[in-house]
Amino acid sequence: MNKIKVMSIFGTRPEAIKMAPVIKELEGHEGIESVVCVTAQHREMLDQVLDLFEIKPDYDLNIMKPGQTLSEITSRVLLGLEEVIKEVKPHMVLVHGDTTTTFAGALAAFYQQVKVGHVEAGLRSGNMYSPYPEEINRILTGRLSHLHFAPTLGNKKNLLSEGISEESIVLTGNTVIDALLQVVKEDYRFEDARLNHIDYRNKKVILLTAHRRENLGGPMINIFSAVKEITEKNTDVEVVFPVHLSPQVRRLAYEILGEVKNVHLIEPLDYAPFANLMAKSYLILTDSGGIQEEAPALGKPVLVLRTETERPEAVEAGTVKIAGIEKERIVALTEELLHHRQTYEGMANAVNPYGDGRASQRTVEAIVKHFGK
Ligand code: UD1
Ligand code: UDP
Repeated sequence: MNKIKVMSIFGTRPEAIKMAPVIKELEGHEGIESVVCVTAQHREMLDQVLDLFEIKPDYDLNIMKPGQTLSEITSRVLLGLEEVIKEVKPHMVLVHGDTTTTFAGALAAFYQQVKVGHVEAGLRSGNMYSPYPEEINRILTGRLSHLHFAPTLGNKKNLLSEGISEESIVLTGNTVIDALLQVVKEDYRFEDARLNHIDYRNKKVILLTAHRRENLGGPMINIFSAVKEITEKNTDVEVVFPVHLSPQVRRLAYEILGEVKNVHLIEPLDYAPFANLMAKSYLILTDSGGIQEEAPALGKPVLVLRTETERPEAVEAGTVKIAGIEKERIVALTEELLHHRQTYEGMANAVNPYGDGRASQRTVEAIVKHFGK
């Protein structure tokens, strides 16, 4: 083997953000030939990240369809990757996290008997339906992988308890910290004038995101109704909500929050403005996974709009609280953070259980070692 051929496969916004630093590291290693294949399970939201980090995919399956079902994504990814893997013949495929691209990517590699490395391995909520389908995507991807890159010790322990061998697990930290450190700047100016005009000192800016499949419908109605009530009760609050491009999310967001004063519904932000908006906000309400990892590093309290989390480290550290999906509790916990200084200060500590910004480097070193180089 002259060079180790590593093919990274990803398809959605968070995978792209968290794989970008790994790809840069792979590209910079003289013993590695890096190939990038995007499924484009997301289109615009993926392209935003590819542009920012200047990643030019070698293959693009371009599979996204409006309102796509899980079976559609899985089958299109599997069929598309069969051709690409046969052509590229990588020594290892790298997948990230828990999306349907992740699982189908690992399965496609297994069908061609190609080794799989799983970045961000070992997160578990313990509930197969929440996050749905991500919990099962992670477990199945773990079964198909030869190298498991675990962000935290807790993630490593989860893998060990499922019988994964210790030699195949590498404790790396989370690559999201590598990405975050590259884009957050003290003196950041937004391109969107509306974001520059918000009075971050005198207003309490709440950043909201919501997209999880298990929250579509009733839970999301509760969440948006809670946000409406919070802005009606608190005139010093401004909510910024970059609305995910999922048609189901957009319909509910515009129906419930479209006309509400002090709620700004905007398009999904590029990663650099989004990360800097997190850094400038007072509080974050979200059902996102990645944001639960980024916000603690920025010292921003997070109320998680879900019933549990596969990221308990930040809850233990005190910056993240599980708010659930009932309107009254979301309103009550938000009000407490708006009005009780001590509660706020108690959560607003900058802690970072997710790594030191060198996760990508450790990942690539472990791949090289695995192939005996
Ligand atoms: C997907 C992942 C989820 C991840 C999330 C990150 C699965 C099953 N879900 O959920 O784990 O947390 O991405 O955001 O893998 N759309 C666009 N343009 C885009 C992106 C999405 O139009 O750039 C629309 C399309 O109509 C698409 C819909 O959003 O059908 C939903 O996208 P999809 O990838 O199926 O699910 P997400 O909710 O984004
Ligand atoms: N993000 C972004 N623009 C936005 C909203 C989120 O760049 O408008 C980033 C965010 O900082 C995090 C990632 O996207 O890194 C999270 O993506 P998402 O919430 O879609 O997915 P999840 O992490 O829940 O899988």
